[in-house]
Amino acid sequence: MARKKMIHDFQRMKRDQDQITFLTAYDFPTATFAEAAGLDMLLVGDSLGMCVYGYHSTVPVVMDQMIWHSQAVRQGAPNTFVIGDMPFMSYQGAIFGAVENAARFLKEAECDAVKLEGGVRVAERIRAIVEAGIVVMGHVGLTPQSSGQLGGHKAQGRTAASARAVVEDARAVQAAGAQMILLEAVPPEVGAFITRELDIPVLSIGAGPDCDGQLLIVSDMIGQFQAFTPKFVKKYADVAGVVTEAMKAYAAEVRGGQFPTDEHCYRMIEGEEEKFLQLMGR
Ligand code: KIV
Repeated sequence: MARKKMIHDFQRMKRDQDQITFLTAYDFPTATFAEAAGLDMLLVGDSLGMCVYGYHSTVPVVMDQMIWHSQAVRQGAPNTFVIGDMPFMSYQGAIFGAVENAARFLKEAECDAVKLEGGVRVAERIRAIVEAGIVVMGHVGLTPQSSGQLGGHKAQGRTAASARAVVEDARAVQAAGAQMILLEAVPPEVGAFITRELDIPVLSIGAGPDCDGQLLIVSDMIGQFQAFTPKFVKKYADVAGVVTEAMKAYAAEVRGGQFPTDEHCYRMIEGEEEKFLQLMGR
């Protein structure tokens, strides 16, 4: 079994231009698959609001949900770097509340780090969480929790002025002490610029091939989430298709009397059937 990678490994991987592999996971079985597949990091993303709970956005997700799912992922992937995603309004209020909520991911779910969305405007929160001794991943570009202000789930940094704002956010995240940053839905030129500019590992979800590693949402890449597919997604499997076909086959066999057969039935211990029928007066 490979040794669990830690933050200094990711810094070395950036220096050596060794790509970091990163996926979301929300549950125990997926986490076991990801660890067996040798992923470097897992994010227990608040995207679980849409991918697991069927909400229309990540906004309704609360801390307790994030902790329960982080616990399940930690159980399934004990030797993988796991990052807990801070949900909407768990860090935007009082600084002390932000630090307390970040600490819950470590104390209650044994996460290795936390992620929070925003740049300049959350720099103070990042600094306070880092000062408490917690590893932080920043998240700039498209930030789904504030997609209302961004006019929807839209790519960022497509104009010079918008690209400069993303760079300023990324610089603020690093200056506040975050040890990694995630760039979401920005043109590859902006991804490459920020990756060269920053000393910390820069992870991409839709920020092009020149970042230090790549993240996909597991439900998208295995073909499980069907409501919409962002441009940056590549599907590596058709879980929805495979599972639906399996369910149809099961229903057809139950209806047709082909399931269960003898091999799926328990047998009474030899001689017990006669005694049972006698007991029942038959
Ligand atoms: O919650 C999540 O999975 C995320 C990704 C969209 C980056 O934050």
